[in-house]
Amino acid sequence: MTTPILQLIFLLILSPLRQLPPSKSATPTRVQLPHPLPTTLSVTDFGAIGDGIHYDTEAIQSTINSCPTTPPTKTCHVNFPPGIYLTATIHLKSNVVLNIQEGATLLGGTKLEDYPKEFNRWYVVLAENASDVGITGGGVVDGQGLKFVKRFNERKNVMVSWNSTGACLGDECRPRLVGFIGCTNAKVWNVRLSEPAYWCLHIVRCLNTHIYDVSIYGDFNSPNNDGIDIEDSNNTLITRCHIDTGDDAICPKTYTGPIYNLTATDCWIRTKSSAIKLGSASWFELKGLVFDNITIVDSHRGLGLQIRDGGNVSDITFSNINISTRYYDPSWWGRAEPIYVTTCPRHSSSKEGSISNLQFINITANSENGVFLSGSKGGLLSNLRFINMNLTFRRWTNYPGGLVDYRPGCQGLVNHSSAGIIMEHIEGFEVENVNMRWSDYQNELWDNPLDFRPSTVNNISFLNFHSALYKQMK
Ligand SMILES: *[C@@H]1O[C@H](CO)[C@@H](O)[C@H](O)[C@H]1NC(C)=O
Ligand SMILES: *[C@@H]1O[C@H](CO)[C@@H](O)[C@H](O)[C@H]1NC(C)=O
Ligand SMILES: *[C@@H]1O[C@H](CO)[C@@H](O)[C@H](O)[C@H]1NC(C)=O
Ligand SMILES: *[C@@H]1O[C@H](CO)[C@@H](O)[C@H](O)[C@H]1NC(C)=O
Ligand SMILES: *[C@@H]1O[C@H](CO)[C@@H](O)[C@H](O)[C@H]1NC(C)=O
Ligand SMILES: *[C@@H]1O[C@H](CO)[C@@H](O)[C@H](O)[C@H]1NC(C)=O
Ligand SMILES: *[C@@H]1O[C@H](CO)[C@@H](O)[C@H](O)[C@H]1NC(C)=O
Ligand SMILES: *[C@@H]1O[C@H](CO)[C@@H](O)[C@H](O)[C@H]1NC(C)=O
Ligand SMILES: *[C@@H]1O[C@H](CO)[C@@H](O)[C@H](O)[C@H]1NC(C)=O
Ligand SMILES: *[C@@H]1O[C@H](CO)[C@@H](O)[C@H](O)[C@H]1NC(C)=O
Ligand SMILES: *[C@@H]1O[C@H](CO)[C@@H](O)[C@H](O)[C@H]1NC(C)=O
Repeated sequence: MTTPILQLIFLLILSPLRQLPPSKSATPTRVQLPHPLPTTLSVTDFGAIGDGIHYDTEAIQSTINSCPTTPPTKTCHVNFPPGIYLTATIHLKSNVVLNIQEGATLLGGTKLEDYPKEFNRWYVVLAENASDVGITGGGVVDGQGLKFVKRFNERKNVMVSWNSTGACLGDECRPRLVGFIGCTNAKVWNVRLSEPAYWCLHIVRCLNTHIYDVSIYGDFNSPNNDGIDIEDSNNTLITRCHIDTGDDAICPKTYTGPIYNLTATDCWIRTKSSAIKLGSASWFELKGLVFDNITIVDSHRGLGLQIRDGGNVSDITFSNINISTRYYDPSWWGRAEPIYVTTCPRHSSSKEGSISNLQFINITANSENGVFLSGSKGGLLSNLRFINMNLTFRRWTNYPGGLVDYRPGCQGLVNHSSAGIIMEHIEGFEVENVNMRWSDYQNELWDNPLDFRPSTVNNISFLNFHSALYKQMK
């Protein structure tokens, strides 16, 4: 299948399907075409069955490998007609776009042998060091996450772990769904990513990534099924995404290099963890991030910074965001905080990163707990701004409050009474047009608007700040 001659035969067979302009249709060699034309290859022409029972891995990979690699190739669309294509890991290459049509599902295998040897290549779809690659088509990529549940539990499912292989440790030893590692111009659009066994869409050391019109669905009780994890990557644009999942929804982190210029707009999010979470892996800088026009519903935490490893964070804007946060089982990180900004050393030997130039503009929150802003001795929070915010506090679940959450690491969970905004280790905090409302119907004493940790808060200003009780019908 992969010999050049066979590839040529396939191209000849398929050439009538290509949309050649009429005036050039007689041109026999592609090299003479004025513009590179897209090629479309269908996996069914390479033997894919699409019955959801037989593995189509080889057919799919042959199709990808048959995409022409020589110029003037533009994009090679690998087409999946309606059907269910069970597969082991498939590897994308430059200039290839998977076109998973509406009615088609790419179904990830659930066996260890379906994935490469190296744990860091465990994905259903993996693009490595590729440029101009993508996934689209209106169909679904499904990781069969529920098949990785060892024991269902409404608090938190217990998941299968492939750690016995020694490839990875702990209980986070499962395949991710889609990975772009070291890629340039990766694009994911108009596709549904469903039921990842572990992280869903993983962008690692990439440049110029565009993700839009993507819907992500993960089981609400399964741990680690993050929505989009962006790692050590520059210039990432996420827009019009819909994420409904158990673990963190949009999660930029740094392990080996910085994150510069990430923008996420026009998204809807529900999660049992953090909707937006910076960190917790934060070894390098995060700078120039914008989150705008985002709706966060029924989540355990709204906008979160969990900086733990010494990386510095700066120039971050959150604007036009509606947040509703509530308590869930405390085994999930989060304490119903609409806004949570923390930097502390993960372990006693970890470095402390600073957070500066952070602004929150036009934020409406309905939440069961207040805002938590906590720097640390060597990792100050500086120049924070809250502008135009309506914060409404009320209780609607029966989970007990009264704990602040420094996890992961640091001081862990600490008993501390709730407050509208808790502040510690802050240098420069400007509050303007902020309106706090308190429900008078609540099952615990909870009416402290501002909680300053003495002598760690400096240079603050409050302009047009208001806090009062309101009557709640109940
Ligand atoms: C991708 O590039 C990195 C860095 O150059 C290299 O270490 C890695 O082996 C490459 N991976 C593949 C599959 O080519
Ligand atoms: C392997 O994973 C299971 C949970 O799935 C966990 O209980 C166990 O501690 C893990 N073992 C190792 C060596 O990480
Ligand atoms: C991102 O930009 C920084 C600064 O220019 C650079 O050091 C880093 O290597 C870039 N990362 C990628 C993945 O291109
Ligand atoms: C980030 O964006 C800024 C402003 O558009 C630009 O000057 C800078 O080069 C970008 N950084 C990287 C690493 O691409
Ligand atoms: C905000 O995002 C929603 C999608 O979640 C979109 O329908 C709406 O047009 C966006 N609003 C603006 C002002 O861009
Ligand atoms: C937030 O709620 C207000 C009032 O209901 C609405 O006008 C606005 O469009 C919402 N914005 C987002 C981003 O959900
Ligand atoms: C963070 O900033 C501090 C102070 O400027 C600096 O010492 C430290 O090296 C920075 N950390 C990283 C990971 O760049
Ligand atoms: C806050 O509420 C006031 C009064 O209802 C309203 O005028 C304003 O637009 C709201 N601001 C935000 C950011 O939701
Ligand atoms: C905040 O909301 C106001 C009123 O809706 C709007 O005029 C302004 O542009 C918004 N600010 C930002 C930064 O989006
Ligand atoms: C919090 O206080 C309760 C009793 O008020 C105690 O049982 C619990 O151990 C404390 N938790 C922590 C983390 O200190
Ligand atoms: C006080 O904080 C504001 C921002 O909140 C900042 O612009 C200003 O420079 C700070 N002033 C001093 C004296 O540090």
